[in-house]
Amino acid sequence: MQVGIGIIGAGTVGGALARKLLDEGDAIAAKSGLGLDLVKVAVRNPDKARPFHLPADRVTTDPMEVVDDDRVQLVVELMGGLEPAGAVVERALRAGKAVVTANKELVAARGLELTSLAEEQGVALLYEAAVGGGIPIIRPLSQSLAGEPLSRVLGIVNGTTNFILTKMTEEGAPYDQVLAEAQQLGFAEADPAADVGGGDAASKAAILASLAFGTWIDGPSVPREGIDTIDVADLSHAAGLGYVVKLLAVAEETEAGVAVRVHPTLVPDDHPLASIRGAHNAIYIEGPQIGELLFSGPGAGGDPTATAVLGDVIDAARELLAGAQVTPPVRFQPSRLADLDHTVTRRYYRLEVVDSPGVLASIAEEFASHDVSIASVWQEGRGAGATLLIVTHEAPEAAHAAAEAELRALPVVREVGAMFRVLGG
Ligand SMILES: NC(=O)c1ccc[n+]([C@@H]2O[C@H](COP(=O)([O-])OP(=O)(O)OC[C@H]3O[C@@H](n4cnc5c(N)ncnc54)[C@H](OP(=O)(O)O)[C@@H]3O)[C@@H](O)[C@H]2O)c1
Repeated sequence: MQVGIGIIGAGTVGGALARKLLDEGDAIAAKSGLGLDLVKVAVRNPDKARPFHLPADRVTTDPMEVVDDDRVQLVVELMGGLEPAGAVVERALRAGKAVVTANKELVAARGLELTSLAEEQGVALLYEAAVGGGIPIIRPLSQSLAGEPLSRVLGIVNGTTNFILTKMTEEGAPYDQVLAEAQQLGFAEADPAADVGGGDAASKAAILASLAFGTWIDGPSVPREGIDTIDVADLSHAAGLGYVVKLLAVAEETEAGVAVRVHPTLVPDDHPLASIRGAHNAIYIEGPQIGELLFSGPGAGGDPTATAVLGDVIDAARELLAGAQVTPPVRFQPSRLADLDHTVTRRYYRLEVVDSPGVLASIAEEFASHDVSIASVWQEGRGAGATLLIVTHEAPEAAHAAAEAELRALPVVREVGAMFRVLGG
C-alpha cells in the first residue's frame, strides 16, 4: 500500500526525514506495512549538498508545486516560520491532503484554526515534533492522558537555553562567553533571540497547555522572560540555597484559569527537572491519578526530530488508507488563560543594599505592606554594602510586582540585582 509523500524544507529535520524515507523504506514497510513514496521535495537552494540523493525532477524551489502535485497525498511541512509555511499547510488541508509539521511557531499561533480546518476536511494534522523534538509528548498528552484531569505541566523545552544555563552553572562562565561557545558548537543559532528570549519556549508552552487542559492558548499571548540578562553569580547563589536555575515552561490549572508562562526558575536540587543537563529537554506532568510522569530525551537534532515526524507520517498514512480519521482531534474550549497578575508564585531576590542598622526591617516592611511574606533571608558581606538573598512565600504576581517596584525606590536598596520565580510544591 503506497502513500505519496511531499516534503517542504529539507534542512536539518527535512533532510534527515528524506534520508530515512529513501534509505530505510524497506524497514519502514516491514514494520508498518506501508510504502512511503517520496514524490517531491521543496528547498530554497537546489544546489546545496544534502544527506540524500533525489533526481533533479523531484526537487523544486516552489512549495506549492509539492502541495499541488496529484501524486502527493501527505504534505510534510519542515520549512519553519509563519509564512509561507502557514499558506502551504492551509492549501494542503483545503486540498484534502494530510499534513505533518514540526513547526511549533505555526501551531502555537494558528493551531486552533488549522486543527478545525483539518477536522472539517476529515484529514490529519499532526505535530508530534513541534514540542520536545524526539520526545513523544503530544500523543501522551492528547491521547494516553486524555482522561486525566491534569494539574500541572512543567517543561524544559528549549535545548539552547538549557545548554547555556548548564554550562554557566557547572563552569561558572558568563552568559556571553557560553552563548558564543554554544553558537560554535551548533547548539545556538547565529540569531539566538527566539531561544534566549523565551519565545520558542512560549510557543511550546502554549501547545502543551492547550493539550493538557483542553483550552486553546495562543502562543503570542503567553508571558515570557528569557535568560539573556542572567548574571552567573546568581546561579552560584541559587546553588548555595539548594536550587538550580532552569528556563521553565509552566502550565497549571489555577482558580483564575490556566496559568501559562515561561521564565527562569529556581528548581529545588532534588526535583527531577534539576538533573536535566545540556541540550536535553524534559516535560514533567502532574495529575491526581497518575501522580508524576517525566518524559526526557533529545529535544532537537535532525535524526531524533525526524523520528518523531516519521511516526506522524506513518499514522497519517494509515488514516489516509483507512479513509477515516483514526485519531480524532482534541476538542478545545475557548481560552481560559489566567491573568498573570492573579497567578500565584514564589520569588527569589538578590538585593544590593547599604549595610546599616534597620535595613532588613525596612525591606521586610515593604514586603509586608503588599502581603508578601518572606520565607528566608541570607546576608553576605559587610562594610560599604551587603548582598541580601530573599526567598518569599507564595503571593499573586500583582502583589510581587508592587512590592518589587517599592523595593527599587527604597533609599537603602542600591540595586535589585536579580529576581527569579521559585518552583513551588
Ligand atoms: N532543528 C531541530 O532540531 C528541530 C527540532 C524540532 C522542531 N524543529 C522545527 O522543524 C522545522 C524545520 O527546522 P530545521 O531546523 O530543519 O530548519 P532548517 O534546517 O533551516 O531547514 C529549513 C528548510 O526549509 C527550506 N526552505 C525555507 N524557506 C523555503 C522556501 N521559501 N521555499 C522552499 N524551501 C524553503 C530550506 O531550504 P534550503 O535548505 O535550500 O535553505 C531548508 O531546506 C521548524 O519549524 C523547526 O522549528 C526543528
